Amino acid sequence: MPTNLTSNDKTKLGGTFTFPGTLMTVRRMGYGAMQLAGPGVFGPPKDRNAALAVLRQAVSTGVNHIDTSDFYGPHVTNELIREALHPYPDDLVIVTKVGARRGTDKSWIHDVTRETLIDSVYDNLRNLGLDALDVVNLRAWGDNGQAPGEETLAEPVSVLAELKRRGLIRHLGLSNVTPKQLAEAQAITDIVCVQNLYNVAHRDDDAFIDDLARQGIAYVPFFPLGGFTPLQSSVIDAVAAQLQATPMQVALAWLLHRALNILLIPGTSSLAHLRENLAAAELNLRDEAINQLNSVANKNASRGA
Ligand SMILES: NC(=O)c1ccc[n+]([C@@H]2O[C@H](COP(=O)([O-])OP(=O)(O)OC[C@H]3O[C@@H](n4cnc5c(N)ncnc54)[C@H](OP(=O)(O)O)[C@@H]3O)[C@@H](O)[C@H]2O)c1
Repeated sequence: MPTNLTSNDKTKLGGTFTFPGTLMTVRRMGYGAMQLAGPGVFGPPKDRNAALAVLRQAVSTGVNHIDTSDFYGPHVTNELIREALHPYPDDLVIVTKVGARRGTDKSWIHDVTRETLIDSVYDNLRNLGLDALDVVNLRAWGDNGQAPGEETLAEPVSVLAELKRRGLIRHLGLSNVTPKQLAEAQAITDIVCVQNLYNVAHRDDDAFIDDLARQGIAYVPFFPLGGFTPLQSSVIDAVAAQLQATPMQVALAWLLHRALNILLIPGTSSLAHLRENLAAAELNLRDEAINQLNSVANKNASRGA
């Protein structure tokens, strides 16, 4: 199993996906920038140069899809992205999200009021150094911010659709939502992606992913590696040992195999982990390995998801 990718691999990185109704084509292996902020996703990184190096390495290896938010830090990850990569490559798609703000005590405050949504879009534009945002996800809060709920999204989606009409946003997505909330939003505007919690051990969205695939909408799992408590599973370990890969590479390769509309945004603040994660795009899982991995969620083997 390769631990790194050469420039020849740039065209691969898991294949490509075009967001529906757009000209935006990204490689399926992307990068999530949340881990670049300080502890608790708050304040500056412990090593600013290392954070900049991670972003530059991702893009130079072929990543052209970066996930961020101005509430990471707050402002920190967007400022790092701008410093590391601006002026941006033509094909780079930066996806950000709105729907929360941060308290001085590092808390996450759900806020989808019109004023905060508009302020958040302008904060993202300023800190990323852009005239228009490629994709903005509305982050719904649901069940205490941890799982989707059933709150109506009509008002905040309408505000973002208005900002899209004004040219500040090119495309809209949703995060932490149910199929019903997606349908409610689609009655107002086009939705190009959904970002929910999903990984090999946490598969509540299986049916939703298939429905989104039929609609051509991207599904972008957050916590693909288990998030703040990375996945731990004896089954994943065993498959990894068979393939001479790492457990994290196996978890990412399983997601790439799961459905063609899945785009990956694994997060890391480490260059070594970044290289390892990107190399997972080269890992081929045979049926036997897939069958073994499919048992992870059933066995509830993860302590991390
Ligand atoms: N929409 C939402 O509500 C939402 C919520 C959470 C996250 N997100 C987005 O989704 C992205 C991905 O989620 P995430 O970063 O929270 O979680 P993740 O990708 O599942 O996992 C990140 C964690 O795994 C570690 N890690 C990464 N690669 C590793 C490797 N090869 N070996 C061992 N450990 C490794 C990281 O630590 P190191 O830094 O030490 O590598 C970090 O602790 C975020 O960056 C963010 O952009 C969205």
